[in-house]
Amino acid sequence: MLVDTHVHLNSKKFDHNLDEVIKRALDNKVETMIVVGFDKETNKRAIELAEKYPFIYATVGFHPTDAKKIKPTDYDLLVKQLNHKKVVGVGECGLDFYWDKDFIDEQIEVFKKQIELSIQFDKPLIIHMRDASEATYNVLSEYRNLKGIMHCYSGSPEMATNFLNLGLHISLGGPVTFKNAQIPKRVAEMVPFDRLLVETDAPYLSPHPFRGKTNEPARVKLVAEEIARLRNLPFSEVAKQTSKNAYKLFNIKEKI
Ligand code: NI
Repeated sequence: MLVDTHVHLNSKKFDHNLDEVIKRALDNKVETMIVVGFDKETNKRAIELAEKYPFIYATVGFHPTDAKKIKPTDYDLLVKQLNHKKVVGVGECGLDFYWDKDFIDEQIEVFKKQIELSIQFDKPLIIHMRDASEATYNVLSEYRNLKGIMHCYSGSPEMATNFLNLGLHISLGGPVTFKNAQIPKRVAEMVPFDRLLVETDAPYLSPHPFRGKTNEPARVKLVAEEIARLRNLPFSEVAKQTSKNAYKLFNIKEKI
């Protein structure tokens, strides 16, 4: 059993081979996939997929790089979608100072609005953070009772401790398998086992030996295998524990 906690099957990149990609995921024991939305179009598509497949769940949100385009009325639709029983999270949202340094205030405002929705609906945040560790921590630390995931976490082990202390989970993806990725490997070793998740972020960030190629959810297995190696545990134990963590966090009835 494996849960891919972050996959964009709602991306146009999968329009031509979605059935094959899903079949390969199921064949590799990926029993649940969380399809993450990031704008109006992909939020809608994530819900369509969740309605079609029993093993797919959706999250809805606005990506920080679109913050300047978000209007107050856009949240009305998000609220409506958050009432859907297969919408299990808010995001992806967060801060990205790598792609966009010109609209930091707007990014923070859009992020805060989604943190509030996460608390209101008691559904976890899917947090995107790029070149913005401290700013992200500062925004999040204004809140109590947070639930959420630092998605494809790429920060330092020290910052990971800070996010864990806020009650958040850490999710690792393809980069932990890269040969020179010393920092994600250290993070993989230090996160408490009950707060660790795995993901692909497909079609992006394919793990070794597929680096640079279009990623797909079946490859979450490679991420879990690398974590098992680093933690000196059997693969089955990592698969079981990370799945259990995901079901609990997303409030999905565990498969037996
Ligand atoms: Ni993503």
